[in-house]
Amino acid sequence: MKLLQTLTEYFAIARLQRDMAAFFPAFKDQKFWLDRLKAIDNNVQSAHNSSHILQFLIAILKLDPAVQGCIVEAGAYKGGGTSKISLFSKHVNRRLIVFDSFEGLPENEEPHMNSTEGHTIKDWFKGGNFAGSLAEVRSNVERYGNIDVCEFMPGWFEQTMPLFNKPVALAYLDVDLASSARTCLKYIYPLLSKGGAIFSQDGDFPLVIEVLKDESFWMNEVRCNNLPIIENLGKKITIIRKP
Ligand SMILES: C[S@@+](CC[C@H](N)C(=O)[O-])C[C@H]1O[C@@H](n2cnc3c(N)ncnc32)[C@H](O)[C@@H]1O
Repeated sequence: MKLLQTLTEYFAIARLQRDMAAFFPAFKDQKFWLDRLKAIDNNVQSAHNSSHILQFLIAILKLDPAVQGCIVEAGAYKGGGTSKISLFSKHVNRRLIVFDSFEGLPENEEPHMNSTEGHTIKDWFKGGNFAGSLAEVRSNVERYGNIDVCEFMPGWFEQTMPLFNKPVALAYLDVDLASSARTCLKYIYPLLSKGGAIFSQDGDFPLVIEVLKDESFWMNEVRCNNLPIIENLGKKITIIRKP
């Protein structure tokens, strides 16, 4: 099983790197970007698979300049994903807004067991897990990413997101808990520009899937007139778009 996962990840990365290379025709540019991503993987403790976040980085490269708004990351941990996303945000000249408690997951009683892709996630999401301080994240982004495009929004999503009201072109949610995913969707989806998208790294967690499938959540809490288009539900990466 482990070998199969390693091979699947290896081939996914190779395919995505080839897709990314299409945006950088010169070999020296391809090498430059791959070296920078590798430096982050080698030096910053991360909770993402390279192939998952690469899908989002390619979406940044593909983003139509006519789609208004900033890029949002919810769930930074030590800033590995933040560093990568900041480099690509800079390349396409967009601001990156980073939401996190900077003290790990909130206390919760969510009974996570297995992902739909067959991994155990039991006991992964206890309060305080995945903690990275703002100082740690800043320092990693300063070193490996681009700090100039970043704006940090420290605090619990439930407190910081209701105060945020800028248009969003793309968002990357890696927040583990169904309650956190719910809050992010409730406040970020209404700000999403048409043509933009929300990528969730948690769309293979059954409790998060319940939220994504809950029509009454979308209609009554998010106050949508129409249900969103959801691609790849039950898989990493799940993508949410406006119809
Ligand atoms: C799995 S980690 C993110 C991993 C990161 N994307 C990476 O690339 O390494 C989940 C993050 O979500 C944050 N988080 C989850 N729920 C939150 C909430 N309700 N408010 C603030 N932060 C939250 C945690 O602090 C943690 O940094």
